[in-house]
Amino acid sequence: MVKVVSTINLKGGVGKTMMTIALAEFLSIEHKKKVLLIDLDPQTNATVSLMGETAWLTKDQRGETLLQLFKDKLEKTSKFDIKRAIVKKASNIAGGIGTLDLLPSSLGLIDIQDSLPLIPAGRFYVTSPVTILKEAISPVLDDYDFVLVDCPPNLGIITLNGIFISDYYLIPCIPDILSTYGIPQILSRVDNFKRETKIGISPLGIVISMYRAQSKLHNLNSAIF
Ligand SMILES: Nc1ncnc2c1ncn2[C@@H]1O[C@H](COP(=O)(O)OP(=O)(O)OP(=O)(O)O)[C@@H](O)[C@H]1O
Ligand SMILES: [Mg+2]
Repeated sequence: MVKVVSTINLKGGVGKTMMTIALAEFLSIEHKKKVLLIDLDPQTNATVSLMGETAWLTKDQRGETLLQLFKDKLEKTSKFDIKRAIVKKASNIAGGIGTLDLLPSSLGLIDIQDSLPLIPAGRFYVTSPVTILKEAISPVLDDYDFVLVDCPPNLGIITLNGIFISDYYLIPCIPDILSTYGIPQILSRVDNFKRETKIGISPLGIVISMYRAQSKLHNLNSAIF
Protein backbone atom coordinates (compact mmCIF):
# COMPACT_ATOMS: atom_id res chain seq x y z
CA MET A 1 0.00 0.00 0.00
CA VAL A 2 1.31 3.44 -0.96
CA LYS A 3 2.10 5.83 1.89
CA VAL A 4 1.64 9.54 1.24
CA VAL A 5 3.64 11.96 3.41
CA SER A 6 3.43 15.77 3.28
CA THR A 7 6.16 18.08 4.53
CA ILE A 8 4.59 21.13 6.15
CA ASN A 9 5.59 24.22 8.09
CA LEU A 10 4.11 27.72 8.09
CA LYS A 11 7.65 29.04 8.51
CA GLY A 12 9.68 29.52 5.33
CA GLY A 13 13.27 28.40 4.85
CA VAL A 14 13.27 25.68 7.53
CA GLY A 15 14.40 22.88 5.20
CA LYS A 16 11.06 21.46 3.99
CA THR A 17 12.23 21.09 0.41
CA MET A 18 15.72 19.82 1.24
CA MET A 19 14.27 17.23 3.61
CA THR A 20 11.64 16.07 1.11
CA ILE A 21 14.24 15.68 -1.65
CA ALA A 22 16.71 13.91 0.65
CA LEU A 23 14.01 11.55 1.91
CA ALA A 24 12.87 10.80 -1.65
CA GLU A 25 16.41 10.06 -2.82
CA PHE A 26 17.17 8.01 0.31
CA LEU A 27 14.04 5.86 0.00
CA SER A 28 14.71 5.34 -3.72
CA ILE A 29 18.42 4.59 -3.59
CA GLU A 30 18.92 2.93 -0.20
CA HIS A 31 15.58 1.17 0.17
CA LYS A 32 14.81 0.54 -3.52
CA LYS A 33 11.35 2.05 -3.10
CA LYS A 34 9.31 3.55 -5.93
CA VAL A 35 8.87 7.19 -4.96
CA LEU A 36 6.89 10.08 -6.42
CA LEU A 37 7.76 13.58 -5.20
CA ILE A 38 4.93 16.07 -5.74
CA ASP A 39 6.12 19.68 -5.70
CA LEU A 40 3.18 21.80 -4.55
CA ASP A 41 5.27 24.90 -3.95
CA PRO A 42 5.00 27.64 -6.61
CA GLN A 43 8.63 28.52 -5.79
CA THR A 44 9.48 25.31 -7.74
CA ASN A 45 12.62 24.65 -5.67
CA ALA A 46 12.20 20.86 -5.60
CA THR A 47 11.24 20.82 -9.27
CA VAL A 48 14.29 22.75 -10.46
CA SER A 49 16.59 20.76 -8.13
CA LEU A 50 15.32 17.43 -9.43
CA MET A 51 14.90 18.09 -13.17
CA GLY A 52 16.89 21.24 -13.97
CA GLU A 53 15.55 24.59 -15.14
CA THR A 54 15.71 24.03 -18.91
CA ALA A 55 13.69 20.81 -18.91
CA TRP A 56 11.19 22.36 -16.46
CA LEU A 57 10.64 25.44 -18.67
CA THR A 58 9.81 23.21 -21.63
CA LYS A 59 7.35 21.15 -19.61
CA ASP A 60 5.75 24.24 -18.11
CA GLN A 61 5.22 25.76 -21.57
CA ARG A 62 3.64 22.48 -22.73
CA GLY A 63 1.14 22.53 -19.84
CA GLU A 64 2.78 19.52 -18.20
CA THR A 65 3.08 20.91 -14.66
CA LEU A 66 0.64 21.31 -11.76
CA LEU A 67 -0.23 24.78 -13.06
CA GLN A 68 -2.27 23.19 -15.86
CA LEU A 69 -4.13 20.95 -13.41
CA PHE A 70 -5.38 23.90 -11.34
CA LYS A 71 -5.88 26.14 -14.40
CA ASP A 72 -8.18 23.51 -15.91
CA LYS A 73 -10.52 23.88 -12.95
CA LEU A 74 -10.62 27.67 -13.29
CA GLU A 75 -10.98 27.69 -17.07
CA LYS A 76 -13.23 24.62 -17.44
CA THR A 77 -10.70 22.85 -19.65
CA SER A 78 -9.20 19.36 -19.29
CA LYS A 79 -5.74 19.68 -20.80
CA PHE A 80 -3.76 18.24 -17.86
CA ASP A 81 -2.55 14.67 -18.35
CA ILE A 82 -1.02 13.17 -15.18
CA LYS A 83 1.03 10.53 -17.04
CA ARG A 84 2.57 13.12 -19.36
CA ALA A 85 3.25 15.52 -16.48
CA ILE A 86 5.18 13.04 -14.32
CA VAL A 87 8.94 13.18 -14.89
CA LYS A 88 10.59 9.77 -14.75
CA LYS A 89 14.08 9.21 -13.42
CA ALA A 90 14.29 12.50 -11.54
CA SER A 91 17.25 13.76 -9.43
CA ASN A 92 20.61 15.27 -10.30
CA ILE A 93 22.39 12.28 -8.73
CA ALA A 94 24.13 10.05 -11.27
CA GLY A 95 22.01 11.34 -14.16
CA GLY A 96 18.72 10.50 -12.42
CA ILE A 97 17.33 7.81 -10.12
CA GLY A 98 15.34 5.09 -11.87
CA THR A 99 12.80 4.71 -9.06
CA LEU A 100 12.23 8.41 -8.36
CA ASP A 101 9.55 10.34 -10.24
CA LEU A 102 8.55 13.99 -9.96
CA LEU A 103 5.26 15.82 -10.47
CA PRO A 104 6.58 19.31 -11.22
CA SER A 105 5.30 22.66 -9.96
CA SER A 106 5.18 26.02 -11.71
CA LEU A 107 5.85 29.66 -10.85
CA GLY A 108 2.55 30.35 -12.61
CA LEU A 109 0.70 28.95 -9.57
CA ILE A 110 1.54 32.23 -7.81
CA ASP A 111 -0.80 34.07 -10.19
CA ILE A 112 -3.77 31.72 -9.81
CA GLN A 113 -3.52 30.51 -6.20
CA ASP A 114 -5.75 33.28 -4.83
CA SER A 115 -8.54 32.35 -7.28
CA LEU A 116 -8.59 28.67 -6.27
CA PRO A 117 -10.72 29.05 -3.11
CA LEU A 118 -13.35 30.72 -5.33
CA ILE A 119 -13.98 27.47 -7.24
CA PRO A 120 -17.36 26.48 -5.80
CA ALA A 121 -17.74 22.89 -4.67
CA GLY A 122 -19.65 20.88 -7.23
CA ARG A 123 -18.96 23.23 -10.13
CA PHE A 124 -18.02 21.49 -13.41
CA TYR A 125 -16.39 18.18 -12.48
CA VAL A 126 -14.61 19.50 -9.38
CA THR A 127 -15.96 18.05 -6.16
CA SER A 128 -14.25 20.71 -4.04
CA PRO A 129 -11.18 22.96 -4.46
CA VAL A 130 -9.24 20.74 -2.02
CA THR A 131 -9.80 17.47 -3.92
CA ILE A 132 -8.32 18.59 -7.25
CA LEU A 133 -4.96 16.86 -6.70
CA LYS A 134 -6.58 13.68 -5.39
CA GLU A 135 -8.75 13.33 -8.47
CA ALA A 136 -5.71 13.77 -10.74
CA ILE A 137 -3.30 11.53 -8.83
CA SER A 138 -5.60 8.59 -8.06
CA PRO A 139 -4.90 6.67 -11.31
CA VAL A 140 -1.15 6.52 -10.61
CA LEU A 141 -0.99 6.32 -6.79
CA ASP A 142 -0.65 2.55 -6.71
CA ASP A 143 2.46 2.70 -8.95
CA TYR A 144 4.40 3.94 -5.88
CA ASP A 145 5.55 2.80 -2.44
CA PHE A 146 5.86 6.38 -1.21
CA VAL A 147 4.47 9.69 -2.40
CA LEU A 148 6.20 12.69 -0.76
CA VAL A 149 4.55 16.10 -1.02
CA ASP A 150 6.66 19.26 -0.69
CA CYS A 151 4.29 22.01 0.49
CA PRO A 152 4.67 25.79 0.37
CA PRO A 153 5.04 27.67 3.70
CA ASN A 154 1.31 28.23 4.21
CA LEU A 155 -1.92 26.29 4.70
CA GLY A 156 -3.68 27.66 1.61
CA ILE A 157 -5.78 25.70 -0.88
CA ILE A 158 -2.77 24.20 -2.69
CA THR A 159 -1.30 22.88 0.58
CA LEU A 160 -4.73 21.55 1.61
CA ASN A 161 -4.77 19.56 -1.65
CA GLY A 162 -1.56 17.89 -0.44
CA ILE A 163 -2.91 17.29 3.06
CA PHE A 164 -6.09 15.81 1.58
CA ILE A 165 -4.14 12.98 -0.11
CA SER A 166 -1.74 12.38 2.82
CA ASP A 167 -1.61 9.56 5.33
CA TYR A 168 1.04 11.39 7.37
CA TYR A 169 2.75 14.76 7.68
CA LEU A 170 6.22 15.77 8.83
CA ILE A 171 7.12 19.17 10.30
CA PRO A 172 10.75 20.15 9.61
CA CYS A 173 11.95 23.00 11.78
CA ILE A 174 14.93 24.93 13.10
CA PRO A 175 14.99 24.72 16.91
CA ASP A 176 14.51 28.39 17.79
CA ILE A 177 11.56 30.36 19.13
CA LEU A 178 10.53 32.00 15.86
CA SER A 179 10.74 28.81 13.81
CA THR A 180 8.68 26.77 16.23
CA TYR A 181 6.13 29.46 17.09
CA GLY A 182 3.54 28.36 14.49
CA ILE A 183 3.71 24.61 15.14
CA PRO A 184 0.72 24.39 17.53
CA GLN A 185 -1.25 26.31 14.88
CA ILE A 186 -0.31 23.73 12.20
CA LEU A 187 -1.36 20.84 14.43
CA SER A 188 -4.73 22.37 15.23
CA ARG A 189 -5.45 23.53 11.66
CA VAL A 190 -4.62 20.09 10.22
CA ASP A 191 -6.72 18.48 12.94
CA ASN A 192 -9.71 20.69 12.12
CA PHE A 193 -9.31 19.98 8.40
CA LYS A 194 -9.09 16.25 9.18
CA ARG A 195 -12.36 16.39 11.13
CA GLU A 196 -14.15 18.46 8.49
CA THR A 197 -13.08 16.30 5.54
CA LYS A 198 -12.92 12.93 7.36
CA ILE A 199 -9.41 12.17 6.04
CA GLY A 200 -7.03 9.89 7.93
CA ILE A 201 -3.88 12.02 8.19
CA SER A 202 -1.62 11.68 11.28
CA PRO A 203 1.44 13.69 12.38
CA LEU A 204 4.73 11.77 12.01
CA GLY A 205 6.64 14.26 14.14
CA ILE A 206 8.79 17.37 14.21
CA VAL A 207 12.22 16.97 12.62
CA ILE A 208 15.09 19.34 13.33
CA SER A 209 16.57 20.16 9.94
CA MET A 210 19.31 22.64 10.80
CA TYR A 211 21.07 23.09 14.13
CA ARG A 212 23.89 25.47 15.00
CA ALA A 213 25.58 24.46 18.24
CA GLN A 214 27.18 27.89 18.67
CA SER A 215 23.88 29.79 18.33
CA LYS A 216 22.13 30.74 21.56
CA LEU A 217 18.91 30.93 19.56
CA HIS A 218 19.22 27.22 18.79
CA ASN A 219 19.38 26.28 22.47
CA LEU A 220 16.80 23.49 22.62
CA ASN A 221 15.66 24.61 26.10
CA SER A 222 14.53 27.94 24.66
CA ALA A 223 12.31 26.33 22.01
CA ILE A 224 8.92 24.76 22.61
CA PHE A 225 10.19 21.18 22.95
N1 LIG B 1 20.16 20.35 6.77
C1 LIG B 1 20.60 21.48 6.19
N2 LIG B 1 21.83 21.95 6.44
C2 LIG B 1 22.25 23.10 5.87
N3 LIG B 1 21.52 23.84 5.02
C3 LIG B 1 20.30 23.43 4.74
C4 LIG B 1 19.75 22.23 5.31
N4 LIG B 1 18.48 22.07 4.86
C5 LIG B 1 18.25 23.13 4.05
N5 LIG B 1 19.33 23.93 3.98
C6 LIG B 1 19.42 25.20 3.23
O1 LIG B 1 18.52 26.13 3.83
C7 LIG B 1 17.83 26.88 2.83
C8 LIG B 1 16.33 26.66 2.98
O2 LIG B 1 16.06 25.27 2.75
P1 LIG B 1 14.75 24.80 2.00
O3 LIG B 1 14.61 25.52 0.69
O4 LIG B 1 14.76 23.33 2.01
O5 LIG B 1 13.66 25.37 3.02
P2 LIG B 1 12.10 25.41 2.82
O6 LIG B 1 11.51 25.25 4.17
O7 LIG B 1 11.66 24.46 1.78
O8 LIG B 1 11.88 26.90 2.28
P3 LIG B 1 10.54 27.51 1.68
O9 LIG B 1 9.64 27.78 2.85
O10 LIG B 1 10.99 28.79 1.01
O11 LIG B 1 9.96 26.51 0.74
C9 LIG B 1 18.37 26.41 1.49
O12 LIG B 1 19.37 27.29 1.08
C10 LIG B 1 18.94 25.04 1.80
O13 LIG B 1 20.00 24.73 0.94
MG1 LIG C 1 10.55 24.77 0.03
